[in-house]
Amino acid sequence: MIVSNDVDQAVSELVNGKVIAIPTETVYGLAANIFDENAVRKIFELKERPLTNPLIVHIGSISQIERLIKGTFPKQFKMLATSFWPGPLTFLLDKNNEVPNLITANSDRVAIRMPSHPLLLKLLNKIEFPLAAPSANPYKRISSTEVGHVSKYFEGKLDFTLDGGKCDIGIESTIIGLEDGNVVIYRKGGISKCQLEAVLKTEVYYKSVQGSQLPGSALKHYAPSKKLIVTDDINKIVLINDSKRIGVIQFSDNLLAEEVKFKLFFRGDYEDASRNLFNYLHFLEQQDIDLIVCEKFPDKGIGVALNDRILRASSK
Ligand code: TXA
Ligand code: MG
Repeated sequence: MIVSNDVDQAVSELVNGKVIAIPTETVYGLAANIFDENAVRKIFELKERPLTNPLIVHIGSISQIERLIKGTFPKQFKMLATSFWPGPLTFLLDKNNEVPNLITANSDRVAIRMPSHPLLLKLLNKIEFPLAAPSANPYKRISSTEVGHVSKYFEGKLDFTLDGGKCDIGIESTIIGLEDGNVVIYRKGGISKCQLEAVLKTEVYYKSVQGSQLPGSALKHYAPSKKLIVTDDINKIVLINDSKRIGVIQFSDNLLAEEVKFKLFFRGDYEDASRNLFNYLHFLEQQDIDLIVCEKFPDKGIGVALNDRILRASSK
């Protein structure tokens, strides 16, 4: 696999119908031209993802939206796009006939976002087509936040990765839609409910429904290959297990047991937690331990989305 920051080479791979890995500010993605059916099918194959699970469409400027949606861009979304695009916010919008059904898994709505990673924006503005890009991980596994994670999963299966360094945000975009005139959050992510409400000056609702058509709704998701326990009381879980065979991820740093094999701390720093949560899970799943114990985050700001990820990651 070629790993390079050469945007022109990335362009030519995509134009030639290839799937490549791309950096975004949230997580790495597996990208292809949304209009190239074979390339898009290849994304599903690489991820071993069912065709019923739709893909987010990535664009490089707001004007590209018109080509993809039916009707006009709703005014609430316009306000949010003005504040948060480019950035980790994805809109579900009524699609028009230009958008292939393969992308939306036959749904009438298409998910669209404008990412803020500078290399990716440069790439998006050099091509004539939007990019379909799910996170660069096999179905249900931990998302990739740096090139090493992508290689771990896809070495030998991908020809090219655009190297954009470590992802700044580290968890996926927030996915929202409109229901009865209200903005609803389908997937918690890089932009919090409070941030959306501050711009809209109205209440925003969480919608949690099970079903393959709803964003990130599979309960088991983002999972490491080792057993993961999520808890409010790290010390108790460590006490009842063999601490020498444990790796701990802690938001605070009040762990008493000295002999725990790996101790990873965020020391109360939310940005650090968001940037490194998946990174630490990748690290720990490769160590010679039996158990990963992760402390629950305070349920505020980005902590809400981080709890969503670790609870899914630990679900059976
Ligand atoms: O931050 C992100 O959003 C990353 C980066 C690469 O942009 N992408 C990402 O894609 O997280 P993915 O495929 O791993 O997760 C997207 C979620 C999936 O759960 C999918 O079901 C949902 O969004 N989704 C995509 N299109 C949809 C649609 N048309 N209707 C409902 N859900 C959709
Ligand atoms: Mg994903």
